[in-house]
Amino acid sequence: MPTHTERVRPTVTDEAIDAVIAAGRTEREDVVRAVQSSTDVAFTWDYERNRVPLAKLYEKAKHSQWNGTSDLPWSTPVDQEAVAGQVDGGTTARRFTALAQADGSPLKSWGTREWTRFAVESQNSTLSQILHGEQGALVCTAKIVETVPWIDAKYYAATQVMDEARHVEVFSRYLDEKLSGHYPINPHLQALLDDIIGDPRWDITYLGMQIMVEGLALAVFGSIHQMTTEPLLKKLLRYVMADEARHVAFGVLGLQEYYAQLSAPELRERQEFAYEAALRLRRRWFQPDVWERMGVDPRPVVRIMLESPPRAEQVFAGMLFSKIVPNCRKLGLLDAGDGWLRARFTELGVIGYEHAVDTGEDYDTFDEVAKDRARSSGEAQPR
Ligand SMILES: [Fe+2]
Ligand SMILES: [Fe+2]
Repeated sequence: MPTHTERVRPTVTDEAIDAVIAAGRTEREDVVRAVQSSTDVAFTWDYERNRVPLAKLYEKAKHSQWNGTSDLPWSTPVDQEAVAGQVDGGTTARRFTALAQADGSPLKSWGTREWTRFAVESQNSTLSQILHGEQGALVCTAKIVETVPWIDAKYYAATQVMDEARHVEVFSRYLDEKLSGHYPINPHLQALLDDIIGDPRWDITYLGMQIMVEGLALAVFGSIHQMTTEPLLKKLLRYVMADEARHVAFGVLGLQEYYAQLSAPELRERQEFAYEAALRLRRRWFQPDVWERMGVDPRPVVRIMLESPPRAEQVFAGMLFSKIVPNCRKLGLLDAGDGWLRARFTELGVIGYEHAVDTGEDYDTFDEVAKDRARSSGEAQPR
């Protein structure tokens, strides 16, 4: 796997800026992408139901299925400028105000019209990447069904395949019917998915998808859900997050057991994988393609962001790790060996999240489907 050690530096070369822009832009979009994978597929003949927490999660998942067609209010009219203004306008303004004021900034002349259009494009881009990430989750979970050697985990993972298909379906429909444009998969996300799918070690699929990608997704969903008042998107996210909380719990349960018996060098490989994945996920957020669609040369924007990252942008980037870091701690990856990953996360400025609240722990309280069913059955039976 290629290594990425680019760091934010006070002085930034033209080459570094070119590299960021080239890496953030998709040159072509093939409809089908084939990725080589040489993983062993595991049959297990003992059918031993001895992993109680996984079995409990499986029962929960069966009860919490929902239907993306009939359980969401698709007839809700959506005013995208208003929605983007809530979801991205506020944060965009906070994240990029300093950028607009910097010397040489091409955004100096921007008024409300431009920022609103940017918020709309930014929302198209963010939801598009979420959609692609969901398809990554669909494919990875199907792979976990094949490769995990425990029957309880195969059962559970099979429910997650259905969950992820539903997520792809509802995000795709929301983009098509309610938003105004698609973006191809970001190359960093594509590279990460390729690494996860191509790796022959079954646990790397868990670590990459269930801990890193899903952890980041939960943080992003949480922040969008908090900011938007659009009822369809809010309910869609509430339902998706309820599923995702189980998915992260599955990753932690599966890997805790396995990592407890790995050697120090084997754990170090996992630490390095987690760190590389973290860097890739973090570097997504330059969005040069969005600036280009706005007719803005992304070079000066990227230069300003690299030279003096806006404080709010740093906080936002850090927030993306609010689920990843505590889960790496639970897996023992922060402190394994000589604490290599703790040192890296400290350098990235995200170690403060190691004890952050983790929704995977209490997926029961996130069960929106059960809550809604209880509510509607209460309404149906007046006392
Ligand atoms: Fe998902
Ligand atoms: Fe998921």
